Amino acid sequence: MDYKKLIADGLEIDDFDVYGNLDIPSDSSLGDYALPCFKLSKVMRKAPQAIAADLQSRFHADGITAEVAGGYLNFRIDRVRFAADVIADMDGKGEDFQPLAPNGKTVTLDYSSINIAKPFHIGHLLTTAIGGSLYRIFKYLGYNAIGINHLGDWGTQFGKLIAAYLQWGDDADIEARGIHALLELYVRFHKEAETDPALEAEGRKWFKAIEDGDKQALSIFERFKTVTLRDVQKVYERLGIAFDSYAGESFYNDKMQPVIDELTEKGLLVDSEGAKVVALDEYGMPPCLILKSDGATLYATRDLAAACYRQDNYHFDKNLYVVAYQQNLHFKQIFKVLELMGKPWAGDCVHIPFGMVSLEGAGALSTRSGNVVFLEDVLNTAVDKAERIIEEKNPALENKRATAEAVGVGAVVFMALSTARIKDMVFSFDKALNFDGETGPYLQYTHARTCSVLHKGGGAPDKVELSHLTDDASAAVLRLVGRFDDVVRDAAARYEPSIISRYLVDVAQAFNRFYIDHRILGDGEESKARLKLTDMVRRVLKNGMHLILLRAPQAM
Ligand code: ARG
Repeated sequence: MDYKKLIADGLEIDDFDVYGNLDIPSDSSLGDYALPCFKLSKVMRKAPQAIAADLQSRFHADGITAEVAGGYLNFRIDRVRFAADVIADMDGKGEDFQPLAPNGKTVTLDYSSINIAKPFHIGHLLTTAIGGSLYRIFKYLGYNAIGINHLGDWGTQFGKLIAAYLQWGDDADIEARGIHALLELYVRFHKEAETDPALEAEGRKWFKAIEDGDKQALSIFERFKTVTLRDVQKVYERLGIAFDSYAGESFYNDKMQPVIDELTEKGLLVDSEGAKVVALDEYGMPPCLILKSDGATLYATRDLAAACYRQDNYHFDKNLYVVAYQQNLHFKQIFKVLELMGKPWAGDCVHIPFGMVSLEGAGALSTRSGNVVFLEDVLNTAVDKAERIIEEKNPALENKRATAEAVGVGAVVFMALSTARIKDMVFSFDKALNFDGETGPYLQYTHARTCSVLHKGGGAPDKVELSHLTDDASAAVLRLVGRFDDVVRDAAARYEPSIISRYLVDVAQAFNRFYIDHRILGDGEESKARLKLTDMVRRVLKNGMHLILLRAPQAM
């Protein structure tokens, strides 16, 4: 129900965008919408207060009243009518909200994009969670969303890893301990190379072998890849993350030449100390490196080829990269080069940066020293802690371990998706698992509460007496419930899943206030209406949590 449009139609002001200027008052006792009339002083040549009074006398729309409050004209939607609209809308959405009608647009999302044989550490939490959430958000809004894991599977380090593997590798150990074993080989290589310079040469030799398509080198490398993906897949499953493509850096080995040719033809490639670069000083940026002096391609070369490939293959309307802000410059350069190449879609490429994550009490994270916090360990710790809390609060619960898994993982994910993404964050288990704070467990707990109330009340009836939903606490809940789609749209427009997280906390808090104020169970009409409201909250929480990758256990 588009109330803003009804209000705009009911005012009929020429040459002024009422629709776009309507605010939602933060204090809902003032009304549901407000028009700041000072914005009209130029057009109407009057003081805001006089304008508000004038407009009020002219305003007419069924079920909406207007009141003057200083320089504002406030609008109130009749609560019975509003309740009816929200219920109709929610009934239409059903149990599991179906995606909105397809909009014919395609969005490619590059997220997680892990590196082979490197740990999947806490630093990957944000790209994985934000990207995985945006993927669900865009799908819900009717986009054709393509999730891409742009694997880091190319580079000289893989030559070193092969050299290390051939010297010290133990297949059984790699089979058993996966990435951990590979990481140890990598760390050992760097340590021993300090005293044995021949190792570096050995590493270079094996990288050359990969480049030349040497069978042995490729088959060893394929195994590293399989082992890494198998380990990472376990974490993806726990987080509910999916991809449509794992085309990574090596996928573009044979797709860069056309890009290099095009850059050459368009006169964009220049020599720089033997290397080939695209000069960007005119745009206040260092040059974008395309070819090293030995002819080797770079990260940027592959990203240019990847962007072209995504356009050719998926015909994206938007091409998104969920990558840490450390790569701001890289993406600015890539997008600029695409623009200089004359790609009409260059402006549809968007870098979605985010801040750094550190773990409370843990030092800096680095791969070379082997001092890393694995994401899997973070999840395990959170699940163990959740299990202890559940054991304490609800020892009789069935499926305690499965519930602890949902709560522990949800706590970690929510923490990642609840702060504005650009901020650095310090991850704290205690904060994440606080059942009373603004946390994942709090949402899950509120959802479980709605399930339990509905269970006791025998479910929600189809038809209810709407006059029982017009008190302040009920109206506040309804107002939030009715905003679901707008909130999801807003989150997509700003690439910010935390908008949904905060909204769900608002919904949960509003419901808990309602729950404290009102007896829900009983046998009258009042109880039926309240069960209906409770059921809408349940579905909003469940489906909203799904969009931010949280599971919604029925009891906890
Ligand atoms: N693998 C890279 C890293 O860990 C991220 C890749 C991001 N995606 C891209 N198309 N460049 O830093």
